[in-house]
Amino acid sequence: MRGGLPRRVRSPRLGELYLSFITVSLPSNRFNPLRPLRQTRGPLEFVVGCGLDEFEAYYKRAVGELGSIERRYIEDDPSHLIVWREGSEILGHALWHESNTEEHRKGDPRDDQDRELLRILAEGKKRFVELHELWLRREHRGKGYGKLFFDFFEDFIAKKGHDAIVYYAYDPAALAMCRKRGYKEAYGVESGGAICCVFYLPIKK
Ligand SMILES: CC(C)(COP(=O)(O)OP(=O)(O)OC[C@H]1O[C@@H](n2cnc3c(N)ncnc32)[C@H](O)[C@@H]1OP(=O)(O)O)[C@@H](O)C(=O)NCCC(=O)NCCS
Repeated sequence: MRGGLPRRVRSPRLGELYLSFITVSLPSNRFNPLRPLRQTRGPLEFVVGCGLDEFEAYYKRAVGELGSIERRYIEDDPSHLIVWREGSEILGHALWHESNTEEHRKGDPRDDQDRELLRILAEGKKRFVELHELWLRREHRGKGYGKLFFDFFEDFIAKKGHDAIVYYAYDPAALAMCRKRGYKEAYGVESGGAICCVFYLPIKK
């Protein structure tokens, strides 16, 4: 990491909404000394906002068709999309949105079990942001990028003044990271066809 700490730079670019990013120089063998050093096309960056055409082209290759709900979150506020870049290449992404214990978003109520678990985790607090989707292309997993993303995301959300982060997860690496980072946890909510753990991190003020 350059200078020991993430470097935050403001970079207003016309046409695309690049609100802020950090640059981390991460040799690809840093977390696995057995892996040969790979030539990368640039340092890893977490970039807030992305042109929709570029994002949809990446998404189609990496995940599939972009859903209407996901598209709406990005159109409502481009800062809901964070892309992980190495040079001009998108390696991964995250989507988030404002939410609360009663509704996913305005007019879309949570089901009873979901609401009940969230009320217990949030101990009476109502508002939070939900990390809606997190995805790193398979060939880039296991190199510590996920942990760097959570460092960035928790700081980004705290600076925006939000109260807490909620994340529904079933992926083993995601579960491991949230547990290690001290997220509170409950189990048993269906999300995207899978039974998930619900993770909750209050933001320290
Ligand atoms: C979650 C994800 C972003 C993590 O990124 P990553 O760069 O591979 O994660 P990291 O290399 O930073 O590893 C994070 C931790 O998970 C652990 N981990 C990785 N794979 C694991 C596995 N299969 N089982 C258990 N732990 C695992 C690592 O050991 C590391 O923990 P450590 O700090 O104790 O070593 C990535 O794996 C991913 O995109 N998964 C798919 C997510 C998904 O299903 N999204 C759709 C629903 S939102």
